[in-house]
Amino acid sequence: MTTATAAPLIPQELIRRKRDGGILTAAELGAFAHGLADGSVGDGQAAAFAMAVFFRGMTSDERVALTLAMRDSGRVLDWAAAGLDPRRVVDKHSTGGVGDKVSLMLAPMVAACGALVPMISGRGLGHTGGTLDKFDSVPGYQTAPDAETFIRVVRTIGCAVIGQTADLAPADRRLYAIRDVTATVESLPLITASILSKKLAAGLGGLVMDVKFGSGAFMAAADDARALAESIVDVANGAGVPTVALMTDMNQVLGDRVGNALEMAEAIDFLTGKRQEPRLREVTLALSAEMLVLAGLADSLDAARARLVARLDDGAAAETFGRMIAALGGPADLIESPTRYLAEAPQRYPVKADRAGVIGRYDARSIGVALIELGGGRVDPRQTLDYAVGITDIVRPGDHVAAGDTLALLHARDGASAARAAARVAATLVPGDSAETPGPLIAARITGGAND
Ligand code: URA
Repeated sequence: MTTATAAPLIPQELIRRKRDGGILTAAELGAFAHGLADGSVGDGQAAAFAMAVFFRGMTSDERVALTLAMRDSGRVLDWAAAGLDPRRVVDKHSTGGVGDKVSLMLAPMVAACGALVPMISGRGLGHTGGTLDKFDSVPGYQTAPDAETFIRVVRTIGCAVIGQTADLAPADRRLYAIRDVTATVESLPLITASILSKKLAAGLGGLVMDVKFGSGAFMAAADDARALAESIVDVANGAGVPTVALMTDMNQVLGDRVGNALEMAEAIDFLTGKRQEPRLREVTLALSAEMLVLAGLADSLDAARARLVARLDDGAAAETFGRMIAALGGPADLIESPTRYLAEAPQRYPVKADRAGVIGRYDARSIGVALIELGGGRVDPRQTLDYAVGITDIVRPGDHVAAGDTLALLHARDGASAARAAARVAATLVPGDSAETPGPLIAARITGGAND
């Protein structure tokens, strides 16, 4: 397949062909992405294109071409030009889940093993939290540094977690905003191209995808998540970036805590070895190990794990995290004194069990929605968050409780928001007479070749 040429674009002809089930060329998709970025394709045309793709789908070649065209609609980072080995540049992307704070530990752990992690993250919307919001809970931390600072921090420390810049994949920024208001978000080819165009613009040598399924995930049904994982792995590998996806279970909150500053504190406890919730540790190590293998820094996943555990145990991962925070404007002693900097909510409300029983499968999405009710998540992209609020001490499937035991502890700004959140949490964490055993945490590994 050839890349984009300067063929004159007649958007309505291209939309008509896709509407009628035809196949678009790389040159056409290149011109269309260019038109999205420079405004020559109108909002109506972009919406019609998205709806045509929604109904007609795209071949694998079309998906690769659209991804590359949207990547090339803006700046593409070039690590070789910055004197770095591009193969060592790796990243992880998660489709998001309630309590998913993996990136906070993974980036410094992988960097402490010699990889480079230029992580461009998003804010949360809806019930899944965003990595950037967690970093915004750290006073002074810059999630929007200039490109030179970003490159310098990656070069000197090994990792930097920042937000999407205006010059990165602008065609996706425009198309995503239009999809959001035209009921065309849920299109596999468009989701694939959207996620990957931004990731590939970071100039990666390898990518690991955490595709979550279950009640706390963006895609609840395991079959839908598998289709997305397969599409992303196929397209990323087709675009020349070796990619592995793990399908991970989000039917319960990941880790101990939900809420921005609370999750930042949990990540610091993890990195300093104070407390590592077992499921969170397993997912973090599994994804990190894949990154080390992709970066050529370990021969096997077992060897990669051993290296990662050693860097956790000797404090190197925590030190890398602390240096990254300081280099991007945060306090130099955040790791040593987190309570000095991370906001705490003024009020605590335990949600209590009204009967004895065992906790079964619950709706993790409700915990994410309860966080929104407390003010810690958003329903509108312009909303400002209360970083201090959240939920801790959440019981797990299989836990036995007595009447009056705490099911979850709410950290709230006021009684009204706590009452709303408490009602929602109590409606889902209901003790019963029996509980089914949860499924495997890592349900599948998708590599583009044979999958496990
Ligand atoms: N996340 C993205 O970045 N794009 C989508 O289309 C869906 C989720």
